[in-house]
This record gives sequence, C-alpha cells and structure tokens, in this order.
Amino acid sequence: MAKVLVATEKPFAAAAVEGIREIIESAGYEFALLEKYGSKQELLDAVATAEGLIIRSDIVDAEVIEAAKNLKVVVRAGAGYDNVDLAAATAAGVCVENTPGQNSNAVAELVFGMTVMAVRNMYDGTSGTELKDKTLGIHAFGQVGRNVARIAKGFGMEVSALDPYCPDEVIAEAGVKPVHSVDELYSGNKFVSLHIPATAETKGSVGYDLLMKLPKGGVLINTARKEVIDEEGLARALTERPDLKYVADVKPGNAAELEEKFAGRVFFTPKKMGAQTAEANINAGLAAARQVVAFLSEGIDRFRVNK
Ligand code: 3PG
Repeated sequence: MAKVLVATEKPFAAAAVEGIREIIESAGYEFALLEKYGSKQELLDAVATAEGLIIRSDIVDAEVIEAAKNLKVVVRAGAGYDNVDLAAATAAGVCVENTPGQNSNAVAELVFGMTVMAVRNMYDGTSGTELKDKTLGIHAFGQVGRNVARIAKGFGMEVSALDPYCPDEVIAEAGVKPVHSVDELYSGNKFVSLHIPATAETKGSVGYDLLMKLPKGGVLINTARKEVIDEEGLARALTERPDLKYVADVKPGNAAELEEKFAGRVFFTPKKMGAQTAEANINAGLAAARQVVAFLSEGIDRFRVNK
C-alpha cells in the first residue's frame, strides 16, 4: 500500500490531521504522521518509503528528495513553496504542488492583528491612533493581498496595491487603487503590507530606500517572508526614522538587535503564525490531502509549481 506522509514541524490543528487521515485512508493509502520533529534525520528516515508527502514550511531540499526514493508528489499545504528545492524535485521526477488561497484569510487577519497592535503602541497603555481614513499600500495583490484589501475596507482605510502581474482592472474591481511603482506605493501610504513571494528577484528588495519613503508614522507589516527584507537597511531606517515601526510574522535574522534598539516599535511572532488557525489548517490540509490522492490515483496535477 502506498504511503502518504504528513511531515509538519509546526503541526496542523488536530481536526485537520484527522480530516487528512480520513481522505488518505479512504482512498486506500497508508497515512503516516511526523510532527514537531527535532532533527532533519527524522524527516529523512520518515520520507524513505513515502510516495506522497504533505508539508508546511518544512524544508524539502535535495537531500530530502534523494532520501525519498519512492516519492512522486509533494504538496505544500499553503502558498509559498520557497522551502522546496524545485530543481531537485523536477530532476527526480517529483511533482510539487501548493494549495493557493486556502490559508489566505488567516494571514490577512493577522496583518490587522499586528497593525492594530502597532498603532496602539503595542498595547502599552499610551494613546494610539486609528486605521480609519488612513492609507494602506498592498505590495502584491495575490490571494492574501486581496483578503487584506477586503478587511481594510471594513476598517475604512484607503487602499492602493502594486502588482505588475495583476491587471489594473482586477485591482480596481476590488475598490483598490492600482499603483505602478514601489516608490509610489511606499511614499503614498502610511501602512504597507508585504505579500511578495521570496524569489531570487525579491530577496532583500525591501530595505532602507523604500522604508525611508514611508510618510511620517509609517508602519511596514510583513506576513510574507523574512528574506524579502534587507535587514541591515531596515535597522538603518529604524535608527534614522524614530517614527517608523516594523511588525512581522517572520522573525528577522537580527531580531534580538532590533528588539533591543527599537523596543516598542518592532514586533515579531515567535513562530510563523499567519496560517496557524484551525480554519486555515483544515482548508489547506484537506486540500493538500485531496491533491495528493488526485495525483497518486489519477495523475491530476492542477496546482503543480515545478512545470
Ligand atoms: C504560506 O506560505 O502558506 C504561509 O506562509 C504559511 O506557512 P505555514 O504553513 O508554515 O504556517
């Protein structure tokens, strides 16, 4: 019987795990679970006999692919797949998929959890500000960006978005103003929410120059990836502009330095929490299970990312 392994260092909610088990087993596959593993070796041992693999931000590099001799499909239950070595997977004939949109509302809600926290001075008891009538720039108008726009409108914010891959009409239809350059996005919005993926092109692309363009009292909210930030540039901008704040669902490499120097102006979740809700776990986990089954049983690869 072919085995499907769920390997999640950061576990899904229990209800999601049970739903995944049900889908895998009722399709006639063996279900295996590796959660909260403490070493890569545990993952290497567990994947050795798996034909299907479901992961979250777990690292699937060339060594993992090499160890997984029977592997046919990896589904990243979530959006970003920068944690999977696509070239190694393609070379080994392994299909890689993600589950776009399934956890995007959860991430978008956390954007506002952290934004409100920032404007209320990290809940330190002092007088803060409101979001109503303030400007928000959405950097990339994908699934998360669109949910952020929807929620921002509920707060009464004025919303703009930059996305060279998304037609202006799609942005405008959502009641959002399309902008066409990073300069325009950062200089025209007090709040900027990052939703760009981490690619060779975007890594280190948000740093000193863009942060310095933010209007007075600017807040950068990062629920994307830490790699898109130029961390030195961020530290420099926070030093030169005491009015700026940075809140992130992704602890930067220089978190300790930033927390010490800019206490009250920076906040980082201890672990990536954006998609860590029961609903997002169920949506993304069950979608991943269905996709693994569809691939193993019928070769369906609609969400393949390593074409
Ligand atoms: C994603 O890319 O889907 C999010 O960053 C969520 O990642 P997670 O599954 O590790 O919470």
